[in-house]
This record gives sequence, structure tokens and C-alpha cells, in this order.
Amino acid sequence: MRKTFIAGNWKMNMLPSEAAAFIGDLAAKTGDFKYGKVMVAPPFTSLPAAAAVIKGTGILLGAQNMSDEESGAHTGEVSPLMLKDLGVDAVILGHSERRLIYGENDAFINRKVKLALKHGFEVILCVGETLEERESGKVETVVEEQLAGGLSGIAEESLASITIAYEPVWAIGTGKTATPEDADSVHAFIRKIIEKLFSSSAAAEIVIQYGGSVKPENSAELMAKENIDGALVGGASLKVDSFYGIINFAKA
Ligand code: PGA
Repeated sequence: MRKTFIAGNWKMNMLPSEAAAFIGDLAAKTGDFKYGKVMVAPPFTSLPAAAAVIKGTGILLGAQNMSDEESGAHTGEVSPLMLKDLGVDAVILGHSERRLIYGENDAFINRKVKLALKHGFEVILCVGETLEERESGKVETVVEEQLAGGLSGIAEESLASITIAYEPVWAIGTGKTATPEDADSVHAFIRKIIEKLFSSSAAAEIVIQYGGSVKPENSAELMAKENIDGALVGGASLKVDSFYGIINFAKA
């Protein structure tokens, strides 16, 4: 049985004080978490304040990125050791904003995935096509390449710590969601690729989130689909009520 996993990606939003208040309010609503897995990923500077209040709430603490190196001369980077020391549980890697704005490629992302696993983090590996790629019929090629590249050299046992987030780039922050049918068919394709790269049991067990304009109003129909196990939520994770609306659905 795959466990529902709802993660909030706060991107470059939320001051330390806002992050701490948000977590307090969310924990008060959700009690001892009967809702599957829930995570929030504050920006780096808000992680210490978030870490101080998140313990014991059942909410996982995520980071939005991580260096591919442990230490040294890497100006502006944040090491897995630093995240570990703060109590971070999981890292989001390969987000399309990292790929498209900051030029991260699959080999670079793969190094981060391996390093994150080495340090005991859970990983959310994001994949997804741009509008241009979708319109030129390349969805499957792009998604397969990103999966094969990002997961290259990863042992099958490590998949228990990896969630795949399918996030079509054209649906992120645009208010345009993939239809539940379209999303489900790409999720089914992702399982096929996981089967090809690993095994049929790995394909059946891997948790696949959908991301791209998920909100309380559309989360139920998305998550009712067989291959959609959760959501990676940007904009709608910035308000306790709307994030809770999505999490609360996952209870069902
Ligand atoms: P969005 O972002 O929910 O604001 O579309 C999703 C994401 O980028 O993870």
C-alpha cells in the first residue's frame, strides 16, 4: 500500500517567524497526523526556526535544494551536513525552477540524489516537461531521460527513500492543472520506466506526487486516480487553510 504524501514547497517565501507560526497553526489543525505523510519545505534561512517548532508534530521538514558537495569552496551553497545538523528530513531535488533558471542537469541532480541518500535524507525527485516539449510530443522522452539520469546508479533498496514528483512545467504557478487523466497517464508511464530501470515491485511501490497548481478544489479528483499518490504543492501551501484543505482530503 502506497502512503499518501503531501508536500508544501514554499519556494522563496516565508520569513523565519512566518514559517514557525505556520507550522504551529498547521500542527494545531492536524493533531497527531492521521493523514499519511506531510512535509513543508521552507527556504534555507527559515529552516532553523521551522526545525525548532516542528519536532513532535509529525510533519516532516524538507529543504528545497542541496549542494552536490559536503563542504569546501562552494560559495552560496548549502551542504547536506548543514541540513542534517538542523534536523531536516528530506530534500526536493531537480525542481524545474532549478533546472530551467539555474541550469541544473540530470548528471548534477544525480550527484545530489546520491549524496542525499548517503546522508539519510528522503528525496523528492522532480521531473516534468515544458509546454514546448509537450506540444512537440516529447513528454515520455523527457520524463524517461530525467528519471534514468536522476536515478542512475541508485540501488533498488534506496527507492524506499525516494518519491517522484511529476510536475509539468506549464502547470506550475499558472493555474493550469493537467487533467487528472493526463496526469495519471504520465504517472503510469513513470511506473513503467521504474519497472524498466528496477523491477515491477519497485514500480508498484514508488510514491508519485503530482505537482502544478494543486489546490483544495482539484486535489480530490487528482488523488482519486490510481497512480497519483500525493501532491507537491507550491502556491496553495503558503496558507494554512488551503494547505490543510489538500492534506485533509488525503485523510479519506
Ligand atoms: P504550484 O507549484 O503549486 O504553485 O503550481 C508547484 C511546484 O512548483 O512544486
